[in-house]
Amino acid sequence: MSTLEEKTHELAAGWTRRHLLDLEGLTAEEIVTLLDTADLFAAHYRASRGKLGLLSGRTVANLFFENSTRTRNSFSLAAKRLGADTIEFSSAGSSLAKGETFIDTAKTIQAMGADAVVTRHATPGTSHLLAQHLACSVLNAGDGPHEHPTQGLLDILTIRQQRGRIEGATVALVGDIAHSRTARSNIWGLKKLGAHVIVCGPATLVSRQWEQLGIEVAYSLDAILPRCDVLNLLRIQFERQAMRPFPSVREYALLYAMNAERIRRSKPDILIMAPGPINRGVEITPDVADGPHSVILQQVSNGIAVRMAALWLLLSGADPHAPSADPAQGGGEA
Ligand code: NCD
Repeated sequence: MSTLEEKTHELAAGWTRRHLLDLEGLTAEEIVTLLDTADLFAAHYRASRGKLGLLSGRTVANLFFENSTRTRNSFSLAAKRLGADTIEFSSAGSSLAKGETFIDTAKTIQAMGADAVVTRHATPGTSHLLAQHLACSVLNAGDGPHEHPTQGLLDILTIRQQRGRIEGATVALVGDIAHSRTARSNIWGLKKLGAHVIVCGPATLVSRQWEQLGIEVAYSLDAILPRCDVLNLLRIQFERQAMRPFPSVREYALLYAMNAERIRRSKPDILIMAPGPINRGVEITPDVADGPHSVILQQVSNGIAVRMAALWLLLSGADPHAPSADPAQGGGEA
């Protein structure tokens, strides 16, 4: 056995969950196991660009009911780099148009031999629902504004790689906190690992209630900027809100866009992050998005490693297609 295989099996030995539905329900230790496993896969790929056979014979299905560029492609690539087969389902052109339900569609994909279903849907809780109905693993790739656990993990991994540790870092999530699943997964993960988290944006998009969870709430980016080690700039989720949350995009950009002038007033080693897609000129100016502080493309690369880690840890255990698998068990997920 190679050293990499030994290490990945060691990390998987203590793993008990069947699903990855959110970061709220994970322990700090589980998050660290996911990050450590991802770091191993990232280092392996940098060194050899080689495929692994760890999930050979297994099948991973992407079941996406919302648009995606980064998440969908990186889940596919992650499965392939582990040697798994993939099924690509898109709601457009499927039997959903003929009246098939979401759960029946997922059960159909499972019956084709899927060991893991990766799902994205506009309704919060859909991945939790699937986990109750399927015997295979379910990975949440975004459920409405609720959570996007692999995005949270890849953001946290990127910060850890850059700074060495999460504990003690001051991380501001800037923008549409109310509708951002990325924000929620970052908040849970970062808090568990000991970061100081600030949520910052227009009052219509940032609730004071976050303070009850020990999160700092701020409405002025300029006021918090000198204290921040990391800024994660979130897109305004116009598709998730009926009312405009501020008078104009130009006004938002004036108050919250990260630009060269704000970089000059930041810590010299500030990290600029964004989950993507970015709207240049709204939450970030092009010179900052492409500048020396930006780790946006490192986040994208880390997305593959994190998704490899999640697939490996969830699928390294029991085979869900084995005759003894019991769909009613729910996989130990909170
Ligand atoms: C995010 C998403 O879809 O939640 N994008 C992503 O997965 N990289 C953020 C967004 O759409 O703004």
